[in-house]
Amino acid sequence: MDIQQLSRLSSHELCQLIHKIGHTPIQPLDCVVERHAHRIHLKLEGENPTGSMKDRTGYSLIMDIENRGLIQPGQTVIESTSGNLGVALAFLCKAKGYQFVAVIDPKTTQENSTKMQMLGATLEKVQTPDQNGGYLLTRLARVQQYCQQADYVWTNQYQNPANMRIHYMQTGPEIYEQMKGKVDVIFVPVSTGGSLAGIASFFREVSPSTKIIGVDAHGSVIFGTPAGTRKLTGIGSSQPSSFIHKGLYNDYIQVTDEEAFAMCRILQTYTNIIVGGSSGAVIAACMRYLTTVPDSGNIVCICADRGSNYESTIFNDEWIQEHHFHLPSDNFYHFSDTLSPPIITTRYDHRFMSEAQIS
Ligand SMILES: Cc1ncc(COP(=O)(O)O)c(C=O)c1O
Repeated sequence: MDIQQLSRLSSHELCQLIHKIGHTPIQPLDCVVERHAHRIHLKLEGENPTGSMKDRTGYSLIMDIENRGLIQPGQTVIESTSGNLGVALAFLCKAKGYQFVAVIDPKTTQENSTKMQMLGATLEKVQTPDQNGGYLLTRLARVQQYCQQADYVWTNQYQNPANMRIHYMQTGPEIYEQMKGKVDVIFVPVSTGGSLAGIASFFREVSPSTKIIGVDAHGSVIFGTPAGTRKLTGIGSSQPSSFIHKGLYNDYIQVTDEEAFAMCRILQTYTNIIVGGSSGAVIAACMRYLTTVPDSGNIVCICADRGSNYESTIFNDEWIQEHHFHLPSDNFYHFSDTLSPPIITTRYDHRFMSEAQIS
């Protein structure tokens, strides 16, 4: 359902749509990396009602403040968000009769800002970057100011255990069932770390041999690496995650803006799959991993949102040029000059598979 249709629904109809959160499909994607053929599995979270995995998180956060008796209809929910959680909370608040203030920043896409507004949210945009190259710390400071001034309820996606709980209770088990219990590696994009922590906690219990690989943005400090600027949204953070600890992941891979954007555009061009920047990062990380660990078994890549959120950015040639991104223009995806290029194909299109001379 597109945002126009969503914004026309009554509270009652929106409440019914809440039951459609989750149960997202898994799409197989065939690829050839270093002459080895692989089938990886994309968990398409963009199929959630507002187009991202954050519908699950938003639902869990709202249920939490309701269960703790912190909110009544007519009161205001506030959250710091670079976009997707804001859209999810705008939807949920409209359904349940709460006001919603989203503290966003200049990286929030036009698409997501429009969606939030159409769903009745008030937007408060911060302008000053924080010392770690992002806007998170500035957004959080603004949330604190608001909460001091008025009786707002902050869902606090960064520390509220309800964030990771839903992925432990719902996303992890869903993947396990869909893959019939056979999952060797899962690539998970990380920002607050709620989805990684929830999915990993579940798999550590039911399938301890499953490897969990966190996928982060270059310039993010989540895994203790140096801060830097980045254009990727949804993934990466200016502060460490309060949910993730070393026992929950086997490794992490950092992806550049260009790697992620190029992967999104290549998928769009050569497959029928259109996903957002963090999904491009996850698939790029997976391809890179496969160059060094070709016998990786059954792989799941969490694709956190759909590509329609990025028509004005990742999929817009002018935006790419304006920001001086140099993306590969041919149909091969180059991770490194020293590696032969992986070739991507889907279940539906075996042209590239035959050209790849699989050994
Ligand atoms: C597109 C996208 N990918 C990945 C993530 C990371 O999820 P988490 O905050 O659970 O780490 C988010 C979170 O906002 C997102 O919107």
